[in-house]
Amino acid sequence: MTNRPLIMRAGRAHPIVLATIHAHCFPAGEAWDASVMAAELSQPGVFGFLAEAGGMILCRVAADEAEILTLAVLQAARRRGIGRALVDAAASYALSQGAARFFLEVSTSNQPAQALYRSAGFAQVGIRRRYYPDGADALVLSRGLRSSDNTNRP
Ligand SMILES: CC(C)(COP(=O)(O)OP(=O)(O)OC[C@H]1O[C@@H](n2cnc3c(N)ncnc32)[C@H](O)[C@@H]1OP(=O)(O)O)[C@@H](O)C(=O)NCCC(=O)NCCS
Repeated sequence: MTNRPLIMRAGRAHPIVLATIHAHCFPAGEAWDASVMAAELSQPGVFGFLAEAGGMILCRVAADEAEILTLAVLQAARRRGIGRALVDAAASYALSQGAARFFLEVSTSNQPAQALYRSAGFAQVGIRRRYYPDGADALVLSRGLRSSDNTNRP
């Protein structure tokens, strides 16, 4: 039996750990440094979670919609359910803040992230052409957050 990942809220004390995880998971030009993390966390509606084993998620809630801004799990900690646990924690919190739908963008070239999001109930609702610096398109994915809304749930 696997242990449930330990997940905690990320706050203003955590920009450095958030940035450290991000730097291990994204290319140099795409990683967010501690000042970016701090700036994001100071924005209205932005919240985050950290996984003790080495994962992070930042999201924004505005009115009845929430979006995933970024998600990262250290290479050594992957395929242990941490990414899914972070998405689930963020979904629960967004729902508690009044959001009814969750959105995100993911590169067409990012198969692991697409697989994770689809396993968490997200389905494609749009596409943004040449959205990323490498020229890849972004898929816009969405899922309902309310338990009564079974749209897109697995
Ligand atoms: C995408 C990412 C966050 C996934 O984190 P993770 O902790 O490994 O994901 P989980 O263990 O929770 O995976 C949950 C499910 O997603 C799918 N999945 C995750 N990684 C996968 C992979 N490499 N290949 C295929 N399916 C994968 C599987 O269905 C998996 O369930 P399973 O392990 O029982 O088969 C991680 O690979 C990562 O940080 N990548 C680099 C940064 C990134 O791409 N962030 C997302 C930007 S949109």
